[in-house]
Amino acid sequence: MDELLTVEDLHFFYGERRALDGLSLTLQAGEVLGLLGPNGAGKSTLIALLTGLLRPAAGRVAVKGEDPRTAAARAGLGLAPQELALYDDLSARENLRFFGRIQGLRGPRLEQRVRTVLEESGLTERAADRVAGFSGGMKRRLNLAVALLHEPAVLLLDEPTAGVDPQSRLALYELVERQRALGRGVLYATHYMEEAQRLCDRVAIVDHGRLLALDTVPALLAVHGGPALLVAERGAETLRVETRAPLEDLARLQAAGPLDSFTLRQPDLEQVFLRLTGRQLRD
Ligand SMILES: Nc1ncnc2c1ncn2[C@@H]1O[C@H](COP(=O)(O)OP(=O)(O)OP(=O)(O)O)[C@@H](O)[C@H]1O
Ligand SMILES: [Mg+2]
Repeated sequence: MDELLTVEDLHFFYGERRALDGLSLTLQAGEVLGLLGPNGAGKSTLIALLTGLLRPAAGRVAVKGEDPRTAAARAGLGLAPQELALYDDLSARENLRFFGRIQGLRGPRLEQRVRTVLEESGLTERAADRVAGFSGGMKRRLNLAVALLHEPAVLLLDEPTAGVDPQSRLALYELVERQRALGRGVLYATHYMEEAQRLCDRVAIVDHGRLLALDTVPALLAVHGGPALLVAERGAETLRVETRAPLEDLARLQAAGPLDSFTLRQPDLEQVFLRLTGRQLRD
């Protein structure tokens, strides 16, 4: 397989504060890798190291085997930063032209890429409007469009759905899925387990700068998810049973006296995080 990102035993400190503590992972071509962790886990720090903005205290990061500060590595990376990086006084199109030129695009090629990413991010109709008048979700989409301009092999998306409504969120997922289908690699930092679960081929669970687990969602659920929870109502009584064999346990409850209703809560990534750390993903 084509290894796009390599992170080996990465350590980083802000002064005395440890932000990354021996983190290792890889991103392959055609893969969406989730970086799931709570506030302060080190997600944005990892992304800053991958762009070459910060240098490791120890360990190694590489983009297609190259140091992130080389021109080749930079050309291969598209970044949608957590803090929006846009000019409020420029229109969407002017922002894209500006950032496209920084990426070395010129002339008809630049114009064609600007048109394409406006379309892909659903902003064509607002292309001539100043960003200052955009909603939070529209700014987010434009922030992502900037990352796509030069058709990079690797996308670093840092909480790309922050402040985006559910409908735009779906459009954004489709956009990420299209990138995957084109064979690009996507590193997707989020603290929403729903989107990690829905979108990502593998998920790296991070906390306090450490990698706690990295696998496909079904494997994470199977290994760290624990039992499902069966909740049944019988008259005024609520029965809660942790179960690894829900049908059998349901039949047993039903045999002991007819149930009025039941729900089954399968373990999710929240449960995985809870079992790995003893804490909730979201406070
Ligand atoms: N510029 C900075 N100076 C000092 N400490 C920092 C700085 N940026 C981040 N940190 C600290 O480093 C740790 C990791 O922060 P980071 O921003 O990488 O986390 P994150 O997972 O991206 O969190 P969030 O979900 O809130 O974006 C935190 O303890 C944070 O307080
Ligand atoms: Mg962050």
